[in-house]
Amino acid sequence: MNLREISTGIFYCGVNDRSTTLFEGLWPLPYGVSYNSYLVKGSSASALIDTVEIGHSRDFLNYLRHTAGIGKIDYLIINHMEPDHSGSIPLLLDMFPQIKIVGNMKTIQMIRGFYHINDDAHFIEIKEGESISLGDKTLEFIMTPMVHWPETMMTYCPEEKALFSGDAFGSFGALNGGLIDDDMECGMYIEEMYRYYSNIVGKYGLFVTKALSKTAHLPLDYICSTHGPVWHSMIPQVIEIVKRLAAWQPEPGVTIVYGSMYGNTADVADLFAIELNRLGIRNIKVHNATVENLSQIISDAFRYEGLIVGAPTYSNEVFPPVQTFLNAMRTREIKNKVTAAFGNHGWAPLATKAISATLEGMGLEFAGSVAMRQSMDDQTAAEVKAVAARFASLLSGK
Ligand code: FEO
Repeated sequence: MNLREISTGIFYCGVNDRSTTLFEGLWPLPYGVSYNSYLVKGSSASALIDTVEIGHSRDFLNYLRHTAGIGKIDYLIINHMEPDHSGSIPLLLDMFPQIKIVGNMKTIQMIRGFYHINDDAHFIEIKEGESISLGDKTLEFIMTPMVHWPETMMTYCPEEKALFSGDAFGSFGALNGGLIDDDMECGMYIEEMYRYYSNIVGKYGLFVTKALSKTAHLPLDYICSTHGPVWHSMIPQVIEIVKRLAAWQPEPGVTIVYGSMYGNTADVADLFAIELNRLGIRNIKVHNATVENLSQIISDAFRYEGLIVGAPTYSNEVFPPVQTFLNAMRTREIKNKVTAAFGNHGWAPLATKAISATLEGMGLEFAGSVAMRQSMDDQTAAEVKAVAARFASLLSGK
């Protein structure tokens, strides 16, 4: 058998995707992504945990059948039904027709809906706290709805202290040889974990917090997510990151997001950055929403405690790329930030008012706004400095 073993009887059989450019058709994949699947072999039975995205079914099935030489799998545990993990279910069922698909009631409804697999004989429906025995290994099921879909659950193997966590603790980034955090330089994966969480799961912090508290008592040697490295030595660090993100507890730093047509609104963004730096703030991320992908902007806005947003008025609305960013913040129900707004207008100061109203409407602490008319002058510069000073003092008071 040629499977890569993570822990005794737990094998990795996922795939890398370095071809897809946009995850979910939305989020860039500069480092690719892995779809992780795991095989747990007990003394009397074996179980596969999740499958891979359908475009990679051939590699996945070839690996299982031909490279690893597996002739029989007893169970397929489905922790999460999003098609990046469930896409290979129909072909897997063709190859292993006797396999029993294990999931909760919602999982099975979704399998019927997505893949039209309707024969009840294929399914074993499980509930919170139930388990199946593989002989010398056990798989226990923990319901964790909305991390990231309503059917989401986690699976725990107590004998190996391994938690199969679905999207939780996942990160973008294909696996470049190593599987376990000890075997690789993890800086990129940690950064990509912030982006994955904020882009994909960010709306569901309350549910993630609940899932973390449900699993907090489990002894953990391995967290086996559906994307990115298997966490081992870095488990305390990644739990802390996800716990903070789920609770909307930001890190020190400021994100400035702006759009600009001719550079005048950009001048205000730059002056805010310079002034905040002069006031002692060292971690400042300035994003031009016109040219940058929304994904990294969302990630930084989610991560840091300060958020300043600015745009020109455009057709009596907020300049569209910035409005798209604001919509993404509203969708994710961001909390616990110090904010400020700025705008630029030829004749109608709509953008400043609308951005301010949006930030305040989300219940975020608001330091003030600057409405510039056409281009920077001494008065606007003085207003930026005054708002920056209030902003910095609110940050330091947090
Ligand atoms: Fe990686 Fe929600 O799927």
